[in-house]
Amino acid sequence: MKTKLLDGGSRKDIKTAADILKRGGLCAMPTETVYGLAASAFDPSAVEKIFEAKGRPQDNPLIVHISDTRELYKLWEEVPESALKLAEAFWPGPMTMIYRRKKTVPDAVTAGLDTVGVRLPAHETARRLIAEAGVPLAAPSANLSGRPSPTSVKHVLADMDGRIDCILDGGDCSVGVESTVVDMTSGTPRILRPGAISEEMIAGVLGSAETDPAVTEGLKKGERPRSPGMKYRHYAPKAPVRLFCGAPDDSVKVLLGQSGDAAALVFDEYLDEAKKRFEKVLPFGESWDHDAHKRILFAALRELDTEKAIFVQEPRVFGRGAAVANRLKRAAAFDCVSCTEYTVIGVTGRSGSGKGFVSAELSKALDLRHFDADVVYKSMLSSDGEMKRRVCEAFPDCVADGGIDRRALGRIVFADPSKKRLLESLTHPFVKLAAEEFVKKNRGAVIDAPLLFESTIDRLCTITVGVYCDDETSLRRILSRDGITEEAARLRLSAQPGTDFYGRRCDVMLDNRTSADLAPVIAKLIKK
Ligand code: TXA
Ligand code: MG
Repeated sequence: MKTKLLDGGSRKDIKTAADILKRGGLCAMPTETVYGLAASAFDPSAVEKIFEAKGRPQDNPLIVHISDTRELYKLWEEVPESALKLAEAFWPGPMTMIYRRKKTVPDAVTAGLDTVGVRLPAHETARRLIAEAGVPLAAPSANLSGRPSPTSVKHVLADMDGRIDCILDGGDCSVGVESTVVDMTSGTPRILRPGAISEEMIAGVLGSAETDPAVTEGLKKGERPRSPGMKYRHYAPKAPVRLFCGAPDDSVKVLLGQSGDAAALVFDEYLDEAKKRFEKVLPFGESWDHDAHKRILFAALRELDTEKAIFVQEPRVFGRGAAVANRLKRAAAFDCVSCTEYTVIGVTGRSGSGKGFVSAELSKALDLRHFDADVVYKSMLSSDGEMKRRVCEAFPDCVADGGIDRRALGRIVFADPSKKRLLESLTHPFVKLAAEEFVKKNRGAVIDAPLLFESTIDRLCTITVGVYCDDETSLRRILSRDGITEEAARLRLSAQPGTDFYGRRCDVMLDNRTSADLAPVIAKLIKK
């Protein structure tokens, strides 16, 4: 069969693809997660062709894609209120919900299960194709079974050229890992496959959510998987994969110390070092950048496919890191080298967000010592030592009676970003070193650091937590605590990055408008 390459941006080409689907053919379509291999969901013989083209085990059900939430009523026996709430929050987007199916949904789609998974994708081309075909589309990822999912047309061609009727080119996938699969059949939504929509985000809408233990631990011997996909060796390149797990500064050391022939996938900040040790090294994005890890993962595994072995620096696994951690653990068949001995929780956020309170609670609950980066910084600034000497040298106007006038220093740096950067580049290495020593001495720590990422202390952490609240609450807290004027407090807040800065970087975000809601979140952090 000749596979037609079509333009996902062209209405005419989308219509051509829709006609192919209506006649029972197969079309690879772009979605924001990965490319899907689509067939009309109500045409059992077309659906069977998907299994053939992929070499997919017959007992692994397919996800049905819709272009409008109302189509749920065609597929499910009923539509629960909770599902509508999640749809409202996250559709169109990278989330699949599973619920009891209508009898009219073919067995070929559900592999005989009495439930069906449904998703409304965010990619414009996919939605147009579904609407134009006039029928929901069953679509697994468009790779050969067992291979990494395709995130570009190149990957689809590599696996599917000659096996399917057409491919709609919609560019590279913006998310890069498959959708979050959530089972909605019981009271608490249960994640069967983590994706870009995290457990915390779902719990944020419905009050609670849980992740199936098989996601993180693998299936126990003889255990029946809740999702058939859980039991297959998945996402695997041909080369064996070994993971190096833990805080980035630790995992890189162990990874670089390995002997033997391998290619490496490491965080951008360690790229130069890694290139000295390995011939082939790919960048995995910055260590905090969960979005980059998702986008890069599958393309990197494919690119390193023919290497003898692949060493991967594993991103932090908690919260937003769960999706990539899950794919990597399966690609590596759970071959993980643990590189961090201690639990190190980094807590950060804007002034007055309440991170001090959260840190104190965490350190109590986890029996870890509390490292307050601000306190350490201030004490190093006032006691004679190398850091103070360098600051005096760089900011002579702030020196009074042999000491540093912190208010004067504050006035200068909060008003001038370049001065602020200068001060931070001088002081951060000292504070980070102190944190590192503290962690070693106390066998772990909760590190409370407003500049967790800027100081690169996050690279010592096994979990990063961002704390946020609204600006007026922050302001009230600063005023009652620090005894400064409202103007000074506002200046301080305006000099800091917004909440989205922390949201993009932290593994989890805690809403701390009131402290009352924190207990269950902290309990969960402890459990993990
Ligand atoms: O992002 C995605 O979900 C992509 C794009 C194309 O939408 N699709 C995708 O499909 O990843 P696939 O077939 O590669 O993975 C579907 C997963 C499998 O692990 C399957 O076992 C599970 O979802 N699944 C589907 N229907 C299910 C059901 N009724 N009950 C339990 N698990 C189900
Ligand atoms: Mg798949």
